[in-house]
This record gives sequence, C-alpha cells and structure tokens, in this order.
Amino acid sequence: MTQAIATGDAGSAMRRVDGPDKVRGTARYAFEYPMKEPAYLHLVQSTITRGRVRAVHDGAALAVQGVLAVLSHTNATRIDPGDETELAVLQSDGVAYRGQPVAAVVAKTPEAAREAAALVGVDYDVYQHDVHLSAARTDLFAPDDTDTHQGDLEAAMAEADTVIDHVYSTPMQHNNPMEPHATIALWDGTSLILHESTQAVRMVHTTIASLFGLERDRVRVIAPYVGGGFGAKGPLHAPVVLACLAAMAVPGRPVKLAVTRRQMFTLVGYRSPTLQRVRLAADAQGRLSAVGDDVTAQSARFTQFVERAGDPSRMMYAAPNRRITHRLAALDTNAPTWMRAPGEAPGMFAPEVAMDELACALDIDPVELRLRNEPEVDPGTHKPFSSRTLAECMREGSRLFGWADRDPAPGVRRHDGWLVGTGMAASTYPALLMPGSSAEIRFEKGRYELRIGASDIGTGAWTVLGQLAAEALGVGVDAVRVHIGDSTLPAASLAGGSSGTVSWGTAITAAARAFREEHGDTPAPGARTTARGSDGADENYSAHSFGAQFAEVHVHADTGEVRVPRLLGVFSAGRIINPLTARSQFIGGMTMGVSMALHEHSVVDPRFGHVVTQDFADYHISVNADIGEIRAEWIDTPDYRANPTGAKGIGEIGITGTAAAVANAFHHATGVRVRDLPITVDAYL
Ligand code: MOS
Repeated sequence: MTQAIATGDAGSAMRRVDGPDKVRGTARYAFEYPMKEPAYLHLVQSTITRGRVRAVHDGAALAVQGVLAVLSHTNATRIDPGDETELAVLQSDGVAYRGQPVAAVVAKTPEAAREAAALVGVDYDVYQHDVHLSAARTDLFAPDDTDTHQGDLEAAMAEADTVIDHVYSTPMQHNNPMEPHATIALWDGTSLILHESTQAVRMVHTTIASLFGLERDRVRVIAPYVGGGFGAKGPLHAPVVLACLAAMAVPGRPVKLAVTRRQMFTLVGYRSPTLQRVRLAADAQGRLSAVGDDVTAQSARFTQFVERAGDPSRMMYAAPNRRITHRLAALDTNAPTWMRAPGEAPGMFAPEVAMDELACALDIDPVELRLRNEPEVDPGTHKPFSSRTLAECMREGSRLFGWADRDPAPGVRRHDGWLVGTGMAASTYPALLMPGSSAEIRFEKGRYELRIGASDIGTGAWTVLGQLAAEALGVGVDAVRVHIGDSTLPAASLAGGSSGTVSWGTAITAAARAFREEHGDTPAPGARTTARGSDGADENYSAHSFGAQFAEVHVHADTGEVRVPRLLGVFSAGRIINPLTARSQFIGGMTMGVSMALHEHSVVDPRFGHVVTQDFADYHISVNADIGEIRAEWIDTPDYRANPTGAKGIGEIGITGTAAAVANAFHHATGVRVRDLPITVDAYL
C-alpha cells in the first residue's frame, strides 16, 4: 500500500524522522561513537561443553604488544548476579555451555586483542554433557504456572467423531538483527557510561547498577539507535557484563566490544526448539470439543527459560475440554531467550497446522472451520475479549486473496512443472501494556521537547512517539522534538512484547495532558511536566491482536524446491498510529515467518554441544529473492479497552501463523503433510 506523506498527525503515514540520518550514516550506533584512546575487547570462549577451568595461562597473551589486561575468573571484578546466573561472567571456574566466555583480552587495537586472545591457554576438567532435547526424556520438569486444565480432554478425545493427534516440531533458531550486540563501556573510577545496543535502556541501567553495586546515578546508558534485536537485546546477556568488567580493569579507557556474527550463535540466546503434541477433538460439523497442547522445550541447566508455545491454544478456539502443558529439559547449553513472538511463533505453527488437518479430515473449508469455533469469551480465562476480530480478518483476507474459488483437493494443480497450492492460518499476539513508563514534556525555544527513555529498534518509535505527543498536545508534529534512548531521560519500559508504543504512548499522552493543564496553550519558556503512564492493562479483559495469513506455495515436482510467490496478511491490531511504519512491521514479521517456514534452523552437534550453523552461509534467512508478492493490510479497530492509546502491538503478530499458512499451502500443493520445520526440498521428494 502506498500512502501520501501526510502532516504527521497520529494516523498519518509520516516518514521516519530518523531516516535521513540513517541513510547518511550519521545516526550513531553503539560501537560507532568516537572515543579517545579506546581499548578493544576480544573474548576467549570455552572449547568444552561442561566442566571447570583448571588454569588460565595468560603469559603469551600479556606479552603481545598493546595488550592492557587479560581477564579471567581469577582476577575479574566480583559482581552480584543474584538470580541472573547468565550474567555471572568470569565469576567462577564453572563451564556451563560451549562458547561460554572463560577469559577476555583488552588491548589497544582490535588486532592485538584478537591475536592475544588466541594465545590464552585454558586447561579444563571435562565433564559429561547432554544437549539432546526429546519428549521421551525422563527428567523433563514442569515450570511453575504454565499448565492449565479444563474439563476432561481424554474423555472428549475418546467420544469425538474426528480427532487429530500429532507431534509437531520447530527447530532452534537464532536472533540475527542486522547490528549484532555492541557495547562501549567507560569506567572513570566512580561512574560507568555505556553505549549499548539494547531494547531496554532502563533494564540495562538498573541491572548493571545492581550487578556492580553502583548507585543508579553512577551508571548511564545511551542507546538512541539500535539495529534490530528481535528479543535478544531485551534481557541482558554476557557481552555487556564483560565490557563492564573490562572497563573496570582499565579505568579511564573506553572499552569497545562488538559481538561477531558467529558469536551471535553462542552468547546472546536463541529460540528454544519445541515439540508440540496437539490434540483436537471435533464433531462432524467441526465443532471442537477438546484442545490439547503438550509442549516440550529446552532450557539451560544453569537457569530457566520457558518457551510458552502452549499459550495460544488456551485462547484461540472454543472447546469445553482443554489441557495445555509445558515441560522443559535442562540441558548443557546457553539459555534460550526471547525471539520475535516468543511462545506464539512456534505456538501458532503446531495448532494452526492441526486445524488444517482437521479441516481436511472433515472436508470443511479451513476458514469456515475456524469461524465455527469462534469463542464468545476467552475460553481459557472466561474473560471477555477487549475485542475479538479474527473473523473479520479471515473474511477480509479471503476476499482479498480470492479464497472463495479454492478447490480443496490436495496435490492436483500443476503449472510449468510446479505443484501449486494455497493455505491459510490465523495469527494472534497478546496486547500487552507494560507498567512504569514516565515521560516529560518541556517547552523550550518555541518547541515541545518530548523526553522518554524508550528505544527505537527499527520499529519507528522516533517517529510515532512524536506523532502521539503532537496529537495529545494538539500541535503539529513539527512542533515536537523527540528525545529517547538515554537513561538520563524519564525511565521507560522495554521495546519488547510488542508493547513499546502503547506503554510509552500512555505515558506520553498523560504527560501532554498534564502539561496543558498546568501550563495552558501558551506555555512560558522552560515550562515542564512529567507524568507516569498506566500501571498495566485492565485485568477485566483478555486483550489480543488477531490476523489471518494466506499463502500461495509452489513446489517443484522434480527438485522439491519450495517457493512462496504470494503472501497476504490481514491484521487487526487496534488503532494504527502510522501506516507506513506499521506496514513495515507487519511485512517484516511475515518475512521472518517465511524464513521460519523454509530456512531458519540452528543445527547442534550433540558430540560437542555447539551450533554448527554459525554464519549466514549455513544459517539461512529469507532474503529479497525468497519473497514474492507480500501484502499486509489491516482492519482499523481502535481498542480503548486494551489501553488508552487504542493501539495494540504490531511488532510480533506478523510472524505468528505464517509458517502454518505456508505448511498448509505446501500440503494443498503436494498432498504431503509437513509437521516439522523448516520445510526443505526433501519434504516432497
Ligand atoms: Mo520481542 S521477542 O518481545 O523483543
């Protein structure tokens, strides 16, 4: 969709205010800040998977010209990680995963740091390791508060006309934003300044202060531009802690650490692989009597992370009997982390393929099957939905895609040697509202300065937050200047969980209104007002975004090559504040969904416990040539029950359901049912 460039009022397709600086290269990312006499940090990573460090030999490294320090658990500053065991870097001799930092070299040049790091000798005691995820493991455990039961799933399965009962799998995947994690840390003996690539300025600020036992006003975090994160830059990981430890070893010198692309596959988390046993029971008309979803995922032995892939099965479709469980294997790996739509991305693959299998078994159109199972209220919580717009998305998607004429027979269409099919799936993501954001409005030199410690990870926050402030102040967007990405600004929640715009927007709107009340329409120079946003969502409602995705898939009859020439998503995500940046988020998510369907797969070698696909030659991500016509539309559905902005999150819903739509279209093209991602050439051959 092309939109005229409008005035910048909320709802209009204003271009990114940070666009020109990014295109010119003048927008500074964390590593790029010019520093006087910088030092560079290079890591020494464990070559064993589990064990302990017996000795670190640093003599040869220290002899390299330009080396300033070699850090290891024997000499690094002691910190207090509390429960954050992933951040206990260089604090003990324990090795919990392959690739764990066991030493680090600080030097005057990156070359010297790297050369010296290669000369650090590490002796280990090696213990047995175990990195194998399987639903048959006898040591799986149930994390707290992740199981729900309603009615009697087994009885409903036994009584039903038609049942579906299969195991679906999604592989380990790694977050790969364009800008890998990067830090500059400067310790002057009393204060720490960090230039950090992060989705969460406040979380870095408070976590680092707490780890190092510093007063908050002695830590500053600066992050105005962030080249993507997809969740891996939400929580903190080992590299930022290492940069701080190194800075303390060389006071007065800024220490620069750029995580390499290969290190993105060892140090900053990943999406857990999942196994999902999905059970559906239905009558002959397709009305569900039971939904079961038993998820097995992996966590690390040293900490716990739950990939909550069962969550969507709690709320998507009506059924009186329901059982959702999560089981974890604690493995000798680094910890999984958030990756775009954690939970929902794998959690809308398995059940949405199962729904397609049910539609085929009953000879009911997949859209119609979903319509027949629309719930009156959230079937998991029995709360009313703040708005439930799945049916409208499916109807509009069917119309735009031309779904009505579809012949449901699988494997019967051929065109120039390609098998042709179409498929659909639903999308959903919770509409979260994070508590605890504040914003300040100042009036200076005839302009309104909006100050809030938000981060723009490429989503458009620089632009959209100015639009929201201008709207609430009743001025043109040119009268507002946005300041974000600094811990000296009023604290804000993270850019994650698709919650940034609405959580920050709620604070911005409150600040703008309070400013007007205090200072009127003609404020004096220097007038300023700070206000807090909401303390969280209205607990009386179940708030979710919805969508429907439709895919056309071609599979080459001789080579098995899979193409997705056409992909349509119709979403309902509340009020759309900027159609230009919103569309970019939707199609970005859908593109990543195609990537999940066809490409992304981190392959672990169980003998060594490491990911062997450590670069973009081996870890494939959808590129332009993989994407055909991709179209995102939306139904304008402001939802003021979800939060005061009327908007819902849009960063993550685009990836949910995409892989299922592709897999369902693959089945329609070939007659082959795929239950394991990614779908590669051998799926058909
Ligand atoms: Mo997103 S995975 O919540 O940053």
